[in-house]
Amino acid sequence: FVHQLADESVGMGELLTSPLRLAPEPSLPLPMAVYGPGRPNSRGLDLTVESMRAPLLAALATTTLPAVPEFDAKLASSAVATGVVSYQKWSKVAVAERAAVLRRAADALEQQMPRFCALLVKEAFKTWGDAVSEVREAADFLRYYAGEAERIMAPVALPGPTGETNELRLSARGVWVCISPWNFPLAIFMGQVAAALSTGNAVLAKPAEQTPGVAWEAVKLMHAAGVPEGALQLLHGPGETVGAALVAAPGVAGVVFTGSTQVAKIINRALAAKDGPIVPLIAETGGINAMLVDSTALPEQVVDAVVQSAFRSAGQRCSALRLLCVHEGIADGVIEMIQGAAQELVLGNPAELTTDVGPVIDREAFDNIQKHLQRLASTSKVLAAQKERASSATQSIAAMPNSVPPSAFEVRSLADVKDEIFGPVLQIVRWGSGALGTPEAVIAQINALGYGLTLGLQTRIDSRAQALAAGAHVGNIYVNRNMIGAVVGVQPFGGEGLSGTGPKAGGPHYLYRFCAEQTLTVNT
Ligand code: NAD
Ligand code: ALA
Repeated sequence: FVHQLADESVGMGELLTSPLRLAPEPSLPLPMAVYGPGRPNSRGLDLTVESMRAPLLAALATTTLPAVPEFDAKLASSAVATGVVSYQKWSKVAVAERAAVLRRAADALEQQMPRFCALLVKEAFKTWGDAVSEVREAADFLRYYAGEAERIMAPVALPGPTGETNELRLSARGVWVCISPWNFPLAIFMGQVAAALSTGNAVLAKPAEQTPGVAWEAVKLMHAAGVPEGALQLLHGPGETVGAALVAAPGVAGVVFTGSTQVAKIINRALAAKDGPIVPLIAETGGINAMLVDSTALPEQVVDAVVQSAFRSAGQRCSALRLLCVHEGIADGVIEMIQGAAQELVLGNPAELTTDVGPVIDREAFDNIQKHLQRLASTSKVLAAQKERASSATQSIAAMPNSVPPSAFEVRSLADVKDEIFGPVLQIVRWGSGALGTPEAVIAQINALGYGLTLGLQTRIDSRAQALAAGAHVGNIYVNRNMIGAVVGVQPFGGEGLSGTGPKAGGPHYLYRFCAEQTLTVNT
């Protein structure tokens, strides 16, 4: 053990300054998503897969996906005009009243939890665990932004000379275009919409073309809770036509986008080319997210964090682990344990309660992952390839199209790591010698990839974790745990560089971007 540490140039005085600790019991109230299986949320409701087993399965049998009409991209300008009329009224509604509408929507969502979970399982192929987490996160966004809008939109009196009053006021900007991805078709969709509406804006919501049904039901729920129809319009259709037309339409006051880096850049260019006012853009995109493991890390903790972060949700999270950088002194043991743990994952039909890894979203995603797998197979050594294993005899892998068994590959250097692979594919690199001789050198190479979304650090040396975190250009860093599932209001989420621009979703600065600021000085 001492020999391994010496390899990493760690002083003995720094050893094990981070003993194993149990997190303190969170005090109420906290967002719902903080609470794990079997634990009630802040309103005492036990909304977990286990507690809702029977209603979830009943909802699966009775829930059907709605047929959602496609929007005609040629009508983008008239949708903006409708939004402007509604914005003029909605922005004048008291912020407390708007917040009450969002809280009503959150309550309704909780009450309809089984139905929304069933929609997520059917349309986005979420496992039940992921579906429950997502509905909880959507409700958290609604309540969090309701409270944040009330907090930040209260006028602030500023100090000034005698005979003068000064006040800073925030107001809505106008009509926002909200463009969301399929991998969180409810939580990200509702998070964007709730942020814009809470601050008094009107919304043109463009969901991903793969998941319009969840969005349709979410919008119906928001209207029923009291959001005026003109203030929230659902405009479903292809990104290249409908999305692009909405971005380009005159009169749009802002765009919030979550999706790929490539499309974020297209939107950024389109906005820059528009005549008229400068239009703000919030863009949350992908990442080549790494986890650095040193020789003091606890292997069992590392393996659990790796399997959760790389393979849960079939790797279809922007936060997911893509690149494991493990110290050469412990690499063999850790890799062997990852292989063993990955073999235990149950692949198959997400509608079954026992399934850990469902299929990827569609054929295009499947084919894209296969191209990466072919490239990796020809250049790297396969470390783990999941045996195809269905969750029951009746639900075979063959019957579940687009299933991708989790796999891991060892690569020689970070130069071999190309693009974000949006699936359950892990790349592993050993560090401890040569160009990757120190953890600082590893972080420098991770920074050089240009993305900056999530980073995992596994070390029991507190000072090292702090120093590496300070040198990493990423938005969310997780030490000695998994690196997915940021909780609204607890882990504000979003990255930098190729991973996006803008304030963090679910954080205290997010809503400011949706507002115009005005300073009023009155000579009394
Ligand atoms: P995508 O970029 O293909 O699509 C996202 C949305 O953009 C969709 O609604 C799509 O219709 C729309 N779109 C496509 N072309 C457009 C255009 N020219 N103009 C306007 N809109 C257009 O992404 P995806 O495949 O749906 O989602 C996966 C990506 O999203 C991954 O890269 C993932 O990392 C990222 N993501 C990021 C976050 C985050 O918070 N940072 C969260 C989830 C997903
Ligand atoms: N916010 C989601 C996560 O942290 C993407 O996994």
